[in-house]
Amino acid sequence: MQVASYLPSRNLALELVRVTEAAAISAAREQGRGNKDAVDQAAVDAMRQVLARTDIDGIVVIGEGEKDEAPMLYNGEQVGNGNPPQVDVAVDPVDGTRLTAEGRGGALAVIALAERGSMYAPGSLVYMDKIAVGEEAAGTIDINAPVRHNLEQVGKAVGKEINEITAVILDRPRNEEYIQQVRAAGARISLIGDGDIQAAIATCVHGNGIDIMLGIGGSPEAVTTACAMSALHGEIQCKLWPRDDSERQYAIDNGLDLAQVLTTRDLVDSDHTFFAATGVTTGPLLKGVRFGPDYTSTHSVIMRSQSGTIRFVDARHRVEWVEGDIKP
Ligand code: FBP
Repeated sequence: MQVASYLPSRNLALELVRVTEAAAISAAREQGRGNKDAVDQAAVDAMRQVLARTDIDGIVVIGEGEKDEAPMLYNGEQVGNGNPPQVDVAVDPVDGTRLTAEGRGGALAVIALAERGSMYAPGSLVYMDKIAVGEEAAGTIDINAPVRHNLEQVGKAVGKEINEITAVILDRPRNEEYIQQVRAAGARISLIGDGDIQAAIATCVHGNGIDIMLGIGGSPEAVTTACAMSALHGEIQCKLWPRDDSERQYAIDNGLDLAQVLTTRDLVDSDHTFFAATGVTTGPLLKGVRFGPDYTSTHSVIMRSQSGTIRFVDARHRVEWVEGDIKP
């Protein structure tokens, strides 16, 4: 793929974390109130506000639908203050809006960047079949192979018996076949209600006991995950998953190959990806936002693929500064 020649030379992830911190703090104020739209709106407003002051010339490639669905961060929206570098932007102001609204753990505010023209655009095909693993098992999996084979490969790579492997699967009827196959192979399952970006990243982080992520989830989340996987040296493989004949026809009409295995590189064709995520509610990777009388605390992870540096950022925000800065 032909990408813009200008390469971002600074670590944009260090700046992006301010965007996800603001989104997470605003979203967390709506935690447990039962209103998904309020969660999303709060995060979008905060994200847009901080992005407007960020030195990037960004276009949202992976956003939340089309312009007429505004006030979401919509596909095609220009973000940043217009200064270089030119970048593609993937946003998920809250991956886990329902989790946040219901007061459940595992929600994140997420943003990723890569050079202009490098991100895969799935159009209106909202789902992909996915498999993701950490660095040890990268290069050994195959989305077209039986589930048992992939579990065995992961077991060999990480040095575990199959009954010690834990597969994370989104709890959806469409993933029932995966659940049955993992059970039949004798591996363990961790079912999640939402939030497969965090689940995929968790396969790359030692100590949380997650070895593989399987199943059908959101297409935008797949591209965003790929930006993180590039830095983590993990692997995600996906295939577009049309819900019905009209989506199948849409794929044909738009030259999207339903049989193609989309690798990490196909999802983001870049050696310069940047990723930031802040916990909204506590999950396997990140703590959620904690409000105190003087400080609001956030926990984030930031990544840059060129260096492969992963930073966990524990931040304390003075309450008056947070209020003044992002006006939640
Ligand atoms: P949002 O909170 O951004 O809506 O996404 C949550 C999520 O669980 C993603 O992590 C996942 O990829 C997708 O939704 C699955 O879609 P659906 O909820 O339609 O099954």
